[in-house]
Amino acid sequence: MTLGLTGRDAGRLAAVAAQSGEAGAAVVQGVFDVRDRHALTGFLGAFDADHPVDLLVANAGVLEGRQADGTSEDGETARRVVEINLLGAIDTVHAVLPGMTGRASGHIVLVSSLAGLSPVADAPAYSASKAGLLGYGRALRTALAPSGVRVSVVCPGYVASAMTDSHIGKQPGKIGAPAAARLIAEGVARNRAVIGFPRVLFRLAMITPFVPEAINRAATRDLRFHVARK
Ligand SMILES: NC(=O)c1ccc[n+]([C@@H]2O[C@H](COP(=O)([O-])OP(=O)(O)OC[C@H]3O[C@@H](n4cnc5c(N)ncnc54)[C@H](OP(=O)(O)O)[C@@H]3O)[C@@H](O)[C@H]2O)c1
Repeated sequence: MTLGLTGRDAGRLAAVAAQSGEAGAAVVQGVFDVRDRHALTGFLGAFDADHPVDLLVANAGVLEGRQADGTSEDGETARRVVEINLLGAIDTVHAVLPGMTGRASGHIVLVSSLAGLSPVADAPAYSASKAGLLGYGRALRTALAPSGVRVSVVCPGYVASAMTDSHIGKQPGKIGAPAAARLIAEGVARNRAVIGFPRVLFRLAMITPFVPEAINRAATRDLRFHVARK
């Protein structure tokens, strides 16, 4: 199996590539920012030509939001979040989609969030980017169904990572990355449209749009958070 791994930080990428190599994967690394469409398209296009992609995971994302002093994200930050989390993922899909549709096979996995189902007051742009990605993925799944290309959207709750380290607040139902990876792999194998976890929080997030605003606010008061400066 050949794994294409991408990110901005060459050192972190090399460490993950080494671990993947030890587990038996051949790895091709691409160091670029997903906002750099030229680099993204060049890398993924060349990778797909050499190793026809059967599973694409658009995972790159950043969390920004309310600061420790109570100030909200500024306009520049909000734009950057949407550019990375939503437009970066859409560009990632389009870099590989012609190959997949040409072969009439492949699975696209978009990593959204429970915040895409139930927006969080302390991270408005993050919530918008993840809601956008969820809508995009669900629409794309239906659009691509006749072509043989599958699409799933992942909506995780809290998963231990550098991102949750920067989320200063309660994190109910937090799980480790290996457990999250297993749930995602299971959902992908079953070709689920939306892979949400943990189950209880996923179900609560699904009914949020039907809950009166005052009740929703009261229920989430304890979950307010701020994002630590990097
Ligand atoms: N952890 C959670 O609780 C949680 C919950 C719901 C959804 N998610 C989603 O899961 C995904 C992974 O998050 P994580 O928790 O693993 O966070 P993380 O530890 O901060 O990892 C984020 C990943 O995205 C990459 N990335 C960020 N900005 C990028 C950019 N501009 N260009 C290219 N790559 C970029 C990072 O690589 P480099 O830094 O090397 O670029 C890193 O691999 C994100 O989409 C996140 O929104 C996480």
